[in-house]
Amino acid sequence: MQLIDGKATAEAIKAEIAEEVKSIMAAGGKQPHLAAVLVGHDGGSETYVKNKVIACEKCGFKSTLIRYEDDVTEDELLACVERLNNDNDVDGFIVQLPLPRHIDEQKIIEAIDYRKDVDGFHPINVGRMSIGLPCFISATPLGIVTLLKRYNIETAGKKCVVLGRSNIVGKPMAQLMMQKQYGDATVTVCHSHTADIKAECREADIIIAAIGKPDFVTADMVKEGAVVIDVGTTRVPDATRKSGFRLNGDVKFDEVAPKCSFITPVPGGVGPMTICSLMKNTLQAAKGW
Ligand code: GUN
Repeated sequence: MQLIDGKATAEAIKAEIAEEVKSIMAAGGKQPHLAAVLVGHDGGSETYVKNKVIACEKCGFKSTLIRYEDDVTEDELLACVERLNNDNDVDGFIVQLPLPRHIDEQKIIEAIDYRKDVDGFHPINVGRMSIGLPCFISATPLGIVTLLKRYNIETAGKKCVVLGRSNIVGKPMAQLMMQKQYGDATVTVCHSHTADIKAECREADIIIAAIGKPDFVTADMVKEGAVVIDVGTTRVPDATRKSGFRLNGDVKFDEVAPKCSFITPVPGGVGPMTICSLMKNTLQAAKGW
């Protein structure tokens, strides 16, 4: 069993990005600039955005954090998106999700200029991705295909099971694993109404778990020699931690790992790659398509 070290891979890629930024700027080019919009004070979102700002520093990017309280109106947020769309210094920006319930998330996403949508959530980017055109690919799926490539994991012709059908992870993940230039695999997407998830998983050469149910994937669901990618990051109470919680994956790591050829840990697997992919997309935005 080989552990896939997402943290080390992400650090290496960020160092490569920083080198590229140095040479762009040495040649008189513009410093890439990522802006992030954060609404409210959700602990998870605060942490994610803080880590995105730190990653920008590591890559040599400029970053701007724009904060709103929970009671921001949809119109105020739309006006902010419009300002960022028109700000020539900003190459790409994200609006951290989830948003408060009184705001229509999809409306905000669709207001973002798709050429600055480094999250890859805009329907134009989703559509372009699904037919293999240049686009921004959403960060978690992009991070996962990058990890598979860096670890020389064979995916072509393999059976891949994606657990979960969210717009941010499951759907784009299944698309990428299916496409010739990425996974080139045979893909099955499982969800809450799949008749026999265990049986589907037992057939899989590659399992990508993104359902947000801690320890859902158990050893009896995994074929000997399978590759297991764990996207889960559920906060579960843990009195031994200073924060009072720990991040728990969708995979019961201790019992599943011995059966795998490759597996990602939580934390330190997919998580760091997600932010690193956002940095890749921002560099791409700065360089132009
Ligand atoms: N919330 C959870 N993951 C993400 C992400 O990748 N981007 C944004 N904007 N919000 C998120």
